[in-house]
Amino acid sequence: MIDDLWYKNAVFYCLSVGSFMDADGDGCGDFKGLTRRLDYIHGLGITAIWLMPFQPSPGKDDGYDISDYYGVDPRYGTLGDFVEFTHGCHQRGIRVIIDLVVNHTSDQHAWFKDARSARDSRYRDWYVWSDKKPPNANKGMVFPGVQKSTWTHDTTSKSWFFHRFYDFQPDLNTSNPYVQAEILKIMGFWLQLGVSGFRMDAVPFVIATKGPKVNKPTEQYDMLRAFREFLQWRKGDAIILAEANVLPETDMEYFGSDGDRMQMMFNFHVNQNLFYALASGDVRPLAAAMKVTKPRPATAQWGLFLRNHDELDLGRLTEEQRQTVFAKFGPDKDMQLYDRGIRRRLAPMLGGDRRRLELAYSLMYTLPGTPVLRYGDEIAMGDDLTLPERNCARTPMQWSNEPRAGFTKSEKSKNPVIDKGPYGYNHVNVAKQRRDPNSMLNWTERMIRMRKEVPEIGWGDFTIIATRNPAVLAIRYDWRNNSVLFVHNLDEQPREVSFALGLDGKQGDHLINLLTEDHNRADAQGKHHLMLEAYAYRWYRVGGLDYLLRRSDIDSDTDAHPA
Ligand code: NOJ
Repeated sequence: MIDDLWYKNAVFYCLSVGSFMDADGDGCGDFKGLTRRLDYIHGLGITAIWLMPFQPSPGKDDGYDISDYYGVDPRYGTLGDFVEFTHGCHQRGIRVIIDLVVNHTSDQHAWFKDARSARDSRYRDWYVWSDKKPPNANKGMVFPGVQKSTWTHDTTSKSWFFHRFYDFQPDLNTSNPYVQAEILKIMGFWLQLGVSGFRMDAVPFVIATKGPKVNKPTEQYDMLRAFREFLQWRKGDAIILAEANVLPETDMEYFGSDGDRMQMMFNFHVNQNLFYALASGDVRPLAAAMKVTKPRPATAQWGLFLRNHDELDLGRLTEEQRQTVFAKFGPDKDMQLYDRGIRRRLAPMLGGDRRRLELAYSLMYTLPGTPVLRYGDEIAMGDDLTLPERNCARTPMQWSNEPRAGFTKSEKSKNPVIDKGPYGYNHVNVAKQRRDPNSMLNWTERMIRMRKEVPEIGWGDFTIIATRNPAVLAIRYDWRNNSVLFVHNLDEQPREVSFALGLDGKQGDHLINLLTEDHNRADAQGKHHLMLEAYAYRWYRVGGLDYLLRRSDIDSDTDAHPA
């Protein structure tokens, strides 16, 4: 039963084929290269890969501009290579979810070419048109500063088309039943080829009403139920992980109050407040964000992340909070993007400081939800701010200190490899870190192993334990009569805290440290006292006298979770 909802205790790894490993030596990563690296991913303990768009595309938005939903871009290989890859994943017990980008197509898609060819063409109503320039054409841009408008004039059909994103990404008319049927067909196709679901791109825009007269789009939530129903008819354990940066009040609309819509959603609210907490050392807004995103159906799950392939969007923080994060993590203008975010990778944001990196990842592994790592995080890769927009954090994976980081044999690569400075591939690479027992890579592997052995995080209920210290976050999870406790000190100074676990009787007397020998016992009043060094993180299994007696009958290993 507990394995049926596999995403509840999964560890996701997100990667783009083109930046991971080039097997054929043309400078671009491919499925053959990725397949060769599956043992590496498996060795890290990853249980699911999220594959970014790999379908044929002009590549003007890193593949989020698809020109054919039913194929593989020749730069990455063939459909056959894709199936070899999913097969290789299944052999290792790794699931695959892929991006489902159906808010818009590329302007090079055959549907759009047909739609713009004449006003009465077959695919005309698959897109969103206006005879005149709509009055709100200069509003609602997702990429302000780069994107000029949301409506662009098409000279062939002499009308205007709507695009929520760049002008080469015309929005599909998702209210059109034919478009809806096609979306299901796309899902069915990839499910048949072995994927376990989708990371659905830009969900609020997919389900929004669109058109020249729409000033305030409304979400058509029932569409989510239709997607979910189809998905599960075709494949019972398939999921959708929604990209929806929405206000907490609408979370339940996305999950469905009966748990009948999206199984997973990225928790953008926690993400932004987590960065504020890391920047300010004050965990209170993060705790508030956790509480406000707590309600969700039993089968639903949050996806937790630190950085992803886009900018770190700080748009939902207060102005003061946002400025605090900018000042700490992205003070220069060229580190910021779209007036709302930071485009750097995590390691440079945290000054490459191993203590702060471990703290940040420890939080990601232990906050309520399922962690989603980004390729290169495990070796603390850096960024290249000379590259435009979000490309700075999409550089090729650094495998070794061979030329071009062992990523490609070609003289040139799709995105340039980082070859200078402290994050250059000579210093930061997998081969080197593999040999070093204390490397970030080996630390990550150990943390992932332990994270999977604590299913209480994904399945249980959490309680924030009062420590009366704004820099310290203590979270207890309870599930099936087991409890675990995670304590983090976000301050650069050591902190001493005292707290009661709030469990009955002697249940919480012992805190068994899962990562070191530093266990803890409560005082006579049942209070725990901890001395936390700067940026400390502690993972404990909670045990009392009863618990220890019960366990000593079974085995002497107090660390393993009782199955
Ligand atoms: C969200 C994706 O994460 C982003 O990278 C992309 O540019 C937009 N959607 C448009 O597809």
